[in-house]
Amino acid sequence: MTSVSLVSAAARRLEGKVAVITGGASGIGESAVRLFSKHGAKVVIADIRDDLGHSVCKDLNSKSTSFVHCDVTKETDVENAINFSVSKFGKLDIMFNNAGVIEVAKPNILDNTKAEFEQVIGVNLVGAFLGTKHAARVMVPARHGSIITTASVCSAIGGVASHAYTSSKHGVVGLMRNTAVELGQFGIRVNCVSPYLVATPLAKDFFKLDDNGVYSVYSNLKGSLLKPEDVAEAALYLGSDESKYVSGHNLLLDGGFTIVNQGFSMFVPS
Ligand SMILES: NC(=O)c1ccc[n+]([C@@H]2O[C@H](COP(=O)([O-])OP(=O)(O)OC[C@H]3O[C@@H](n4cnc5c(N)ncnc54)[C@H](O)[C@@H]3O)[C@@H](O)[C@H]2O)c1
Repeated sequence: MTSVSLVSAAARRLEGKVAVITGGASGIGESAVRLFSKHGAKVVIADIRDDLGHSVCKDLNSKSTSFVHCDVTKETDVENAINFSVSKFGKLDIMFNNAGVIEVAKPNILDNTKAEFEQVIGVNLVGAFLGTKHAARVMVPARHGSIITTASVCSAIGGVASHAYTSSKHGVVGLMRNTAVELGQFGIRVNCVSPYLVATPLAKDFFKLDDNGVYSVYSNLKGSLLKPEDVAEAALYLGSDESKYVSGHNLLLDGGFTIVNQGFSMFVPS
């Protein structure tokens, strides 16, 4: 191997791997699809937005990227997405449970309906459960794999988003920890990535922000702005062999947001 090919092999950190990314048609998931592809992975986009999913595939190499319609709340859809990955690319190395929704926050719990609560839990938590379950179905016999779920800063702190969203994101961390214990016996790693605010359609809609508006939202770390690509980089790390001993971990990408106690402002000039 020449020194040039050594460098390019090292630069392609997912060479030979196969990934399914739910919610891969937009935002953080789309960035992960693009980054994983760049690093040599074959990627299946599993999403309900067929138009966006197909257009991401068209943009990338059609031989190594595929779209499958998948509503993560439906077990048969999730089962089919995993089976599709195995039949098209021969295996599944990385499952990225990233699909998520958020509803308009109603601070008073009395205004929250059971249906709205269940809808968010259905996509964010039940969707991650189904993705983890069906990934495990094919990863256990293979005795390896990496399962990643997008949680949120709302997995570590209250008061940032709605009751349903916060509950769902705390829930996926519980699911991740429990399944990391079980699946570790089979060499399968299970982790979460937990971003702070990222200016995707989901967040801009929720916080009523334009692209510049995100600058006005409180953050602890100044001079830097979290982008979908940064979250994709964290997922790339968790999906790659570089994180081979990392499991049961909730990787917060929040610039220190969740460790700040606003009641004690000795470091913040008034
Ligand atoms: N944007 C943020 O500030 C932020 C912060 C923390 C966590 N997150 C989490 O990141 C993840 C991705 O969100 P995003 O910000 O990229 O939003 P986004 O709206 O750009 O992308 C979400 C994707 O999920 C898909 N999706 C929605 N419901 C689905 C379903 N039932 N089945 C399959 N796919 C479905 C959508 O079609 C879309 O492609 C979510 O889990 C979200 O909760 C986002």
